[in-house]
Amino acid sequence: MVLTYAPEIRALAEETLLGHGRDPFNLLQMLIEVQEACHCVPQAAQEVIGPALFGTDRLRLPAAIRFYSFLSETYLGEYVIYLSDNITDQMQGSRALAEHLCSRLRVRLGRVRADGRVSVTLTSCTGMCDQGPAALINGFAVTRLTRERLDQISILIEARQPLSAWPPEYFQVAPNLRRSDVLLRHPLPPGAALQACLDRGADETLQELYRSDLRGRGGAGFKTAIKWDTARKAEASRRFILCNADEGEPGTFKDRLLLQQYADLVLEGMTLGGFVVGAREGILYVRGEYRFLRDHLEAVLARRRAQGLLGEGILGSDLCFDVKVHWGAGAYICGMETAMIESIEGKRGIPRKRFPLPVEEGYRGEPSIVNNVETFAAAAHIGWHGGRRFARHGTKDSTGTKLFCVSGDCALPGLYEYPWGVSCREVLRDCGARNPQYLQVSGPSGSTVPARDFDRRLALEDLSTVGTVMVFDQTRDLFDMTRNFARFFQHESCGLCTPCRVGTTLLVGLVDKFEAGLGCPADLAELRHLATVLTTMSHCGLGQTATAHLIDAIEHFPAVFERRMQSDTFEPAFSLDDALAEARALTGRDDPDAHL
Ligand SMILES: Cc1cc2nc3c(=O)[nH]c(=O)nc-3n(C[C@H](O)[C@H](O)[C@H](O)COP(=O)(O)O)c2cc1C
Ligand code: SF4
Repeated sequence: MVLTYAPEIRALAEETLLGHGRDPFNLLQMLIEVQEACHCVPQAAQEVIGPALFGTDRLRLPAAIRFYSFLSETYLGEYVIYLSDNITDQMQGSRALAEHLCSRLRVRLGRVRADGRVSVTLTSCTGMCDQGPAALINGFAVTRLTRERLDQISILIEARQPLSAWPPEYFQVAPNLRRSDVLLRHPLPPGAALQACLDRGADETLQELYRSDLRGRGGAGFKTAIKWDTARKAEASRRFILCNADEGEPGTFKDRLLLQQYADLVLEGMTLGGFVVGAREGILYVRGEYRFLRDHLEAVLARRRAQGLLGEGILGSDLCFDVKVHWGAGAYICGMETAMIESIEGKRGIPRKRFPLPVEEGYRGEPSIVNNVETFAAAAHIGWHGGRRFARHGTKDSTGTKLFCVSGDCALPGLYEYPWGVSCREVLRDCGARNPQYLQVSGPSGSTVPARDFDRRLALEDLSTVGTVMVFDQTRDLFDMTRNFARFFQHESCGLCTPCRVGTTLLVGLVDKFEAGLGCPADLAELRHLATVLTTMSHCGLGQTATAHLIDAIEHFPAVFERRMQSDTFEPAFSLDDALAEARALTGRDDPDAHL
């Protein structure tokens, strides 16, 4: 039942404030609760929450609401449908399905139906690429969409059936674990790694981590032991362990499976982090798209507390550590560690300045470890088996095994665990790739790998990756991917710095020009120029990697652009230099980014 009556909404807002201790750091969690109950954050709720948390600062609340894709100031309807618009969903016909659904429901894409019954909108990847096309309906993932399934869904919506009365198989998220190796083959009994580490002591546990040479699985590959050691040595009375389960890179779904099936391993890794660095509090930041995991995660946390694996005096020792879950609300940038910290603090997910690092000043200004879900799982594995054994797997610079999310044109999409260093060819063989033309490794911010490079290895010293492998067969036009990724970055840019905010929009303009068959060599030069500006001048990794796919495409598949050129006489599109000059004129400042 969606709340629409103002007194009820105000009562809900009061209750939510109370439930979150009137702490502004919990703002995002409060807004998510209101959004779920009202399918928007209505004015009546804002009037209660805003003054209670921010006094006369009237902008803080609406600014936060507008930042997150899944929050809305206006009513989104009784049924809120977000269709995943990732390139792999598109390859499986998601755009035609969107049209079909809209015509069945008599609603325009991106609009709310006049009677307020339903809205249908496109969203970036929902983390279900192995079982798309997918959607979120009132926050819950619905997978393997077909015309027939959408017809049934339309009937259920017209009949105003609650989601609880819908066929449960619609909401099934299959784990699709296709290959397991040392990490996932033999799950640890809950508490085993913790006990081993308590026996070993914090110093020696850290040494095991050094011996393992574990590097972060979230993309940057930073050495985990160094991170933990630095936080441990930092002067502070409080420290935090933050687990990054934002997993917004299109094509990535490994953390979903880990939280769904190996949550104990992840929580055990976080608890070990608490033990080693001296933190009592952990926060698991999960992307809003994984709402279906909420009850499961709370149940695992409750069980671990009951088992003495979380809370006071863990396993009879003097270790105290607990974990709470924070939810995201649809913002890819919140996977970037300092943006995530801002989001956990209830603010917009705007990346902070590079220094001080989170290990020195992170959440609440205190030393905080940020690690990926898979990194914590690997840390638990090392805690039990020891670092040397872990380091025997993989390559010299990339030890251990890695989870790879395989999707696209293959018979067996899903999750594959391999030792680092596996070749693309081997992955293609195992997943039953059909006549592959190229791969996109590590999502839109990663690398495009043409067939001649299929012997390259997935490892930090060769093809570095967060663990995403999208397969494209010979029938695919790479331009479709280029267009999809360019729009993705434009939408996800947080807008803080000019090179990325303006540059991603200019890129979309240029890509559109090629799409219309109006490109010219000067536009290609402009694309390269923009790529250099974004890569070298953007404030954070989003802007710095937003053009990697374009540069790869131009280098490996120039024909994709050449056949969309009309002549070589066109003027280049409006350039970033022009945009910067305009910004200078508007702000009266030489450096519009000086505040960075
Ligand atoms: C735009 C952007 C998005 C990111 N998204 C994620 C993410 O979803 N999950 C993640 O673990 N790391 C993500 N990262 C990397 C984090 O900033 C950080 O390096 C990582 O969480 C550290 O954990 P690790 O050392 O275990 O890899 C992202 C970085 C950028 C620039
Ligand atoms: S690079 Fe993009 S996402 Fe990063 S701070 Fe700048 S505008 Fe925001």
